Amino acid sequence: MPLTAWVNGHFVPLEQAVVHIEDRGFQFADGVYEVIACFSGAFLDLDAHLSRLQRSCDAVAIRLPRPMGEIEQLIAEVYARNPFPHAMIYIQITRGISPRNHHPAESIEPTLVITARELPEPGQEKIEKGAYAITLRDMRWQRCDIKSIALLASVLGELEAARAGADECFWLDEHGHMLEGCASNCLAVIDGVLVTHPLDHHILDGMSRRMTLRLAVSHGIAIEQRPWQLNEPGLSECMMCSTTDAIMPVCRVNEQVIGSGHPGPVATSLRQWMLEEFEQLRTGATQQP
Ligand code: PDD
Repeated sequence: MPLTAWVNGHFVPLEQAVVHIEDRGFQFADGVYEVIACFSGAFLDLDAHLSRLQRSCDAVAIRLPRPMGEIEQLIAEVYARNPFPHAMIYIQITRGISPRNHHPAESIEPTLVITARELPEPGQEKIEKGAYAITLRDMRWQRCDIKSIALLASVLGELEAARAGADECFWLDEHGHMLEGCASNCLAVIDGVLVTHPLDHHILDGMSRRMTLRLAVSHGIAIEQRPWQLNEPGLSECMMCSTTDAIMPVCRVNEQVIGSGHPGPVATSLRQWMLEEFEQLRTGATQQP
């Protein structure tokens, strides 16, 4: 299926989708983005993603290129032109085109790009065996709560993970606390409690993190949002979550085998409950007249 993108006012074939070389996204990574999952036409947590997009734009003083209602319609239109059963919609907004100067020109028009791609299911082996992650000292900026397109540190982290044969790289703060992954949030089960770093400038307020915590609470699993470390006594499970991977058990971090070395009951159940919600969303969408 030939893919179609929305670029600054036009639908174009993906291979012809281009932005100007003086776009500040290209020159300075001066922009923000969102990634939204779509199951058979039903968007997961659409309103929450759009609110986060608005917050990211506000935080970096980028004006929305169109009213949010229109952006929402465009997202649906992009999906309609790329109707994968399980799609990821990428929305990228940059400050716009301006002669290269750190200080942007006044009243430039923000760039809006919306693309869709198929999300392949993660391999069964990874789900059954659990993921392997490495850790690195966090070298990102101080505003990781903003979903910025400036992802160089995350790219380097992922390269380092790939070099080690790992699936993800988790960032550690100066005290050795686990913050989040390069493209995921991370959680642990410590003495039976689902623990994850609190929301602050060091991590993204991930939609899957929110869903994971909500599912845990609704199934009677205690949660705690506090800084945590891998070497805490009682740590029996580790997991990561993101729009692209749902919940993934992590069974080894660096040289440390986590718990039994196999996906634990909490991560396995949370993944199952999350997939059930996706399925309900998909079924609801396909049953609509
Ligand atoms: N990344 N933390 C970081 C640094 C991320 O990049 C992501 C997701 C998450 C999880 O957020 P969410 O649950 O809303 O997907 C946490 C996306 C998938 C990406 O960059 O492609």
